[in-house]
Amino acid sequence: VEPIPPTIEWRRGRVRLIDQRALPGELRFVECATVDELGDAIASLSVRGAPALGAAGAFGVALAAATIGNADEVRSAARRLAAARPTAVNLAWGVNRALDAWVRGGADAALAAAERIASDDVEANRTLGDIGAELVPDDARVLTHCNTGSLATVGYGTALGVVRAAHERGKRPRVWAGETRPLLQGARLTAWELDRLGIPVTVVADAMAGSLLASGDVDVVVVGADRIAANGDVANKIGTYPLAVLAREHVVPFVVAAPTSTIDLDTLTGSAIPVEERSGDEVVRIGGERIAPTGVAAANRAFDVTPSRLVTAIVTERGILRPPYADALRTASMRA
Ligand code: MRU
Repeated sequence: VEPIPPTIEWRRGRVRLIDQRALPGELRFVECATVDELGDAIASLSVRGAPALGAAGAFGVALAAATIGNADEVRSAARRLAAARPTAVNLAWGVNRALDAWVRGGADAALAAAERIASDDVEANRTLGDIGAELVPDDARVLTHCNTGSLATVGYGTALGVVRAAHERGKRPRVWAGETRPLLQGARLTAWELDRLGIPVTVVADAMAGSLLASGDVDVVVVGADRIAANGDVANKIGTYPLAVLAREHVVPFVVAAPTSTIDLDTLTGSAIPVEERSGDEVVRIGGERIAPTGVAAANRAFDVTPSRLVTAIVTERGILRPPYADALRTASMRA
């Protein structure tokens, strides 16, 4: 099987993305020539996953700098991009890094900063995968949620990077992939990636997690993060928090894997993390088909927050952090 192409890259003055809405049916690309096209791709989840959004934000600023003549308009385009999705801190982080570079060195510097974010991301993920593989026992049955693989990053993956590194070391991990309602990142994307990598994967309804943990069929839960607050509280895809509660009840380790770019020391606790609310339509429709009565209300919080006391370890490219997290996070996120 061919390797998965980069999730996002700069090609001849455009930002090229894997169109994640089309997977697993079709591996196709979106080419964004303007900031608005990229903003739409972000809002509609053609590109998604915290680290991938970081690169998208930075390449978006490079695109703004290359296509917009007026400095104020470049800034306002950057602000629009940063606001396209609120929860993953990487998006605003990527935008700001590229914007700082642009202020110092213009369009070329913005692009160089974006390219650097993209290559650093792949390297950070490989490193954190290697480090985190230690937490995956031989023949482990790993429960994960959403998609945290190559597609959620620029390449390799975070939580799935840990699984992948364990697989590469011959540990024979097997994965339970929660389908991840409503947008099915687990069923569509995680299953697709693991299958291509030859890692055994079984898709389950999100609601089956409790039964799996109760029957002793999970050795470790490994998930990603959209934002880690200064105290170690973790925002991740809706449905992550119940997994942490269940893991605690059944004495199974609950591991979060994320690059240090996902740590936000300016957000003190999880209650200050902005949680994206998406259209209720995503809940009451599957593949365009309506599954609830017309006109019925539907709520759609895209993320939840897991309190740090339920987190066994946070795997970063700078090592495995253990509670209490505040000092460990501060040290890990300090720039080398
Ligand atoms: O709404 P999404 O698909 O962007 O949500 C993604 C997640 O929640 C991931 O778990 C998180 O971004 C970590 S990705 C390495």
